[in-house]
Amino acid sequence: SDGVVRRDRFSGGPARSFLSSLAADERIFEADLEVDRAHTVMLAEQGIVEDDVAGQILTALDAIEVDGHDSLPDGEDVHEAIETAVIERIGAEGGKMHTARSRNDEVAACIRYRLREDVLESIETTLALRESLVAVAEAHAETIMPGYTHLQPAQPTTVAHWALAYEGAVRRDTARLLEAYGRINESPLGGAAFAGTTFDIDRERTAELLGFDGGPASNARGSSAEQRSAVVVENSMDASSSRDFLLEATQALSTHATTLSGLAEDVVIFANRGFVDLSDDYSSTSSIMPQKKNPDTLELVRAVAGDAAGGVQGLTTTLKGLPRAYNRDLQRATTHAWDTVDAVTEASEVAAGAVATADWNEETLAAEAGEGFSTATGVADLLAANGLPFRTAHELVAHAAENSAERSSADSHAAKPRDNGADYDALEAAARDVLGEPLESLVDPDAVEEALDPAASVASRDSQGGPA
Ligand code: ARG
Repeated sequence: SDGVVRRDRFSGGPARSFLSSLAADERIFEADLEVDRAHTVMLAEQGIVEDDVAGQILTALDAIEVDGHDSLPDGEDVHEAIETAVIERIGAEGGKMHTARSRNDEVAACIRYRLREDVLESIETTLALRESLVAVAEAHAETIMPGYTHLQPAQPTTVAHWALAYEGAVRRDTARLLEAYGRINESPLGGAAFAGTTFDIDRERTAELLGFDGGPASNARGSSAEQRSAVVVENSMDASSSRDFLLEATQALSTHATTLSGLAEDVVIFANRGFVDLSDDYSSTSSIMPQKKNPDTLELVRAVAGDAAGGVQGLTTTLKGLPRAYNRDLQRATTHAWDTVDAVTEASEVAAGAVATADWNEETLAAEAGEGFSTATGVADLLAANGLPFRTAHELVAHAAENSAERSSADSHAAKPRDNGADYDALEAAARDVLGEPLESLVDPDAVEEALDPAASVASRDSQGGPA
């Protein structure tokens, strides 16, 4: 009861700080207290530790929580430091807290407990981003804009169609994170070092106390929180040493970051072309060029995909080839997941804000929507619908596009080189060149004019999932 801790033989060497995870463990300080509480309650309920001792331990844990992580005594990690602090407060009896467990199942439980919260937060950012994208789509269901393939003008579409394309992708990101959440949300506690324990513990009870119910996506799919029951990672060696839940979560975050990077890149390009104005809150200026308004936030969002891919790589490489059961390498695996979840959650939140507050320049978008003969596919479709084989129609319109491009480079100083009239004339010439017949002999000129109009072109593409 003098509070002396037993690890003195190992405590003071030159590798002390290299071994210690105490600073990084601040992240799981609260989680460790919760895990300690659940374990202590279970030990008392099972008659393994006397009720009054358990009560003293719980009281000590509350006081330690109030004092905070920074007041912990030195230790190899937060688990050891909190145990030492309990013993300092209530004497050697405090050491009963560590009956029937190991730091190996303890740390796995702490990581899962904390990561659950972090992944939920990241899921919330995906929901906020989807709401932003849906709001843009509602406001711009009819706002015509150029669509691109290979970053070349391809076919006109709408801002809503663009926004909902990303909403669909982020929806799948949400689903992947929920899947990962379900498998994080299982209890390793009671695995002990890896080989279980001689004590009559109740693993389901600690799982229940800590809310490890496998939900929402594993065995508990579709059931309400009340109906779910505790889920333990059954095999004690698996429980204490597996980290595939970390990898899965980090991969899901990396996938989301990759989605975000595409979205960010699109908006950077759109800002460059004057299609969209970011709000000042999401822009930066230059220290030398007074006129500048730069999309720095989105460039950083784009870069976070690199951090996240690096996190997956670091974690995978650390876990690769690790033998069962516990190895200390695992201590350095965890930080990759924390870094990734922090970076991606922040990026997702910023992307949602930038999208929600941006202004779309409808006039510029409309003027640019027909650029580069972007309605050519619609004209080819029209010719094909009038009986010309599609391949011949493609050839005819390609020929017109070439003529049209030559005309516009001859006229390259014009701000907006094309209009429907020029494209109509080019089609007329192409019909004579390719078919030896005037365009009217194939198709009603009014229908051609309509097909050349970007808004009409969008309205006519009413197939499932199309921009109309
Ligand atoms: N701090 C360690 C970790 O993060 C847990 C301690 C287990 N240590 C041990 N020597 N078995 O993985």
